[in-house]
Amino acid sequence: MFPSVALIATASLYFLAAVDAAPSKRQSDNGSCQALFNKCAGSVDKSLSNVFAIESCVFAATCANGSRPVDNFLAALFTNKNGENAGVPPQSVGLPRVTSTVLNSISTDGKTISQQDFINGYYGTLSPEGPWPSDAQVVINYYNRVAVWTAFCNSNIPFFNFQDYFQYSSSVSSNGCSGTTISTLPPTTTQPPPTSTPTISSDASCQKMFTTCINEVNKDVSNIFSVKSCVLGATCFGGQRPVAGFVSTVYGVKNSGGSSAPAPSALPRVSQALFNAGSTNSEFLTSPF
Ligand SMILES: *[C@@H]1O[C@H](CO)[C@@H](O)[C@H](O)[C@H]1NC(C)=O
Ligand SMILES: *[C@@H]1O[C@H](CO)[C@@H](O)[C@H](O)[C@H]1NC(C)=O
Repeated sequence: MFPSVALIATASLYFLAAVDAAPSKRQSDNGSCQALFNKCAGSVDKSLSNVFAIESCVFAATCANGSRPVDNFLAALFTNKNGENAGVPPQSVGLPRVTSTVLNSISTDGKTISQQDFINGYYGTLSPEGPWPSDAQVVINYYNRVAVWTAFCNSNIPFFNFQDYFQYSSSVSSNGCSGTTISTLPPTTTQPPPTSTPTISSDASCQKMFTTCINEVNKDVSNIFSVKSCVLGATCFGGQRPVAGFVSTVYGVKNSGGSSAPAPSALPRVSQALFNAGSTNSEFLTSPF
């Protein structure tokens, strides 16, 4: 089964210029998304609390329909598990993130999800019975939803950003890859981030603000909005990640993965000195604070 899939995937790399186009008539998901949904529904608990600890659910969330595929998927899954009048389905933003077990099972390098990892995982999760998409391009289109939202269009998607898609893509819009071209060229080798700091952006200047912020902010991040690099770092996430996500990321790095980050609303606001500095050179005029 896999050799032919790999062959199709390789062949379709040449057509990536057309990724944003709707799949052609001959390209069909062939019921594979529904099959993933059914597998997922067979394993997930009624509250959906373990949904992103299950590989079939992760893939089923990427292929779901609608403008907010992840939350649409969760709503359909909740109804499937609990019936039509079961109340309000959980939203992705409040659910545990994709687990490291699932990430490591999909990834081949233990750090990122590549397009080929995603294709292999999608088909692997459907094994052995299928049904298979008529064309691997269908699966590549699903991968590109994640790549575009996370803005990792020219390199593999780091675990952290892949997880973000499932938690935040239904509630936070993204600037996507405007200005960049989706391709499968080898990842660029510019500006590797320090090994101890997660990659939060494919934009080198944004990543630099983040690493500078990590160096300058307090351990409890209480001064995060008084540190210029942190304010700029949060801003340059664009629409792709909420301020809360930025704060919790910084807090996690400062506290070895600690997850009790303060909510942004509980933190002192952007300091007046910084605001004044920003408003004279307009650095912060479009900031979301
Ligand atoms: C998504 O929408 C298409 C077109 O309406 C439909 O054929 C397909 O079954 C839907 N997929 C799921 C998983 O609901
Ligand atoms: C759909 O999946 C079935 C079952 O795996 C397979 O036999 C069939 O060839 C697939 N159809 C298309 C159009 O790829």
